[in-house]
Amino acid sequence: MSKNLQAIRGMNDIRPTESPLWRYLEGQVSRLLDTYGYNQVRLPIVEFTELFKRSIGEVTDIVEKEMYTFADRNGDLLTLRPEGTAGCVRAMLEHGLIGGGQVQKVWYNGPMFRHERPQKGRYRQFHQIGVEVFNLAGPDIDAELIILTWRLWGALGLRDAVTLELNTLGTSEARARYRDALVAYLEVRREQLDEDSQRRLTSNPLRILDSKNPDTQALLVDAPKLDEYLDDESREHFEGLKARLTAAGVPFVINTKLVRGLDYYGKTVFEWVTDKLGAQGTVCAGGRYDGLVEQLGGKPAPAVGFAMGVERLVLLLETLELIPAELQRNVDVYLAAFGEPAELAGLALAERLRDTLPSLRLMVNAGGGSFKSQLKKADKSGAELALILGDDELANEQVAVKPLRDDSAQQTMSWNELAAFLAARFELA
Ligand code: HAM
Repeated sequence: MSKNLQAIRGMNDIRPTESPLWRYLEGQVSRLLDTYGYNQVRLPIVEFTELFKRSIGEVTDIVEKEMYTFADRNGDLLTLRPEGTAGCVRAMLEHGLIGGGQVQKVWYNGPMFRHERPQKGRYRQFHQIGVEVFNLAGPDIDAELIILTWRLWGALGLRDAVTLELNTLGTSEARARYRDALVAYLEVRREQLDEDSQRRLTSNPLRILDSKNPDTQALLVDAPKLDEYLDDESREHFEGLKARLTAAGVPFVINTKLVRGLDYYGKTVFEWVTDKLGAQGTVCAGGRYDGLVEQLGGKPAPAVGFAMGVERLVLLLETLELIPAELQRNVDVYLAAFGEPAELAGLALAERLRDTLPSLRLMVNAGGGSFKSQLKKADKSGAELALILGDDELANEQVAVKPLRDDSAQQTMSWNELAAFLAARFELA
């Protein structure tokens, strides 16, 4: 027998029983973003490889080790997007949406691809909902992005489960001065660094700060600190952000070691982390990237954004059992009919009900079956009520209504009464 085909490691199917929770989460986010005045953009999944090299950074883990890159039939080097910011900036520039200083507030939702080692909460195809704002330079908009995520955690019941970590990376000049000081300090201690950090010392020294190695962390205790090198402008920006978060009642902690894994950030960076998911605890992360638009060939335009990991949020809702009860059930009523005449009348009745009650979730039995088997299917569907139509009911233009989830009595009513009864029973408008 031939071997069954399987999905690629780290690339998951969202099964029919899982998708209601995804749709619930996506619905909450999109409704919230609507109320804050953000517009959705839909962007390609594949871009020229060059775009990611020039934005995320040549010496980041993502670009060095994790991209799905291939030559297409024309020989162009293409990459499955590992994140959404680069493509979003490319699109804004290509359509002239930010070049004249216009404010743009946009969001996107879709799959991203990184060849990482799969584990719980870390996949090779995963989904992000990202938000980006262009041409606003002040801390007020950084605050708005964080406040709206806080509101989302409130709607989802997650506020107690997540912590906001905040840092500022300063301007690129301040960061360059700090980088020199950090390298000078670590260079003479090179032998004490692990292999990864030794490599980063020349390629991306700031990433050494978030090393998980305890010896490296011990070595960093006396190292120069980024906040000692901050420029006044970044300091003021950061103070402005903290004041606004405090005013809005959003709790945060400062983490001076938070540097992020993508090169385009400056000034504000932040992560929402949870301790409920094990090692992959960052559910949402972002920051300011004022230099990126110019770096990709546009007129300078300040920008800030974040992306949340949909799989991780779904896992968190499941772990904390925060799945709303109504998601467990997606059928209200199951219509069972016995014999062809009843089946035909049932079909017409079902369509009339759909006309009158467009939001009624009505499943019509398909595939025939005995009384017993149809009622078994009705029960399995999760429906609250079964509508039963046999020869007797048909002759009297009636239907039997059988409650499936409680002991209340079965009743019989005429077809004409049915819509009003169901509207009241399921609180349908
Ligand atoms: P990021 O930190 O690389 O940032 O990813 C954002 C979020 O995506 C993470 O916090 C995590 O929840 C989720 N994520 C990342 N990698 C994986 C994975 N392998 N499996 C599951 N979930 C994952 C960015 O991508 C930036 N573009 C965010 C941004 C937008 N910054 C400014 N604007």
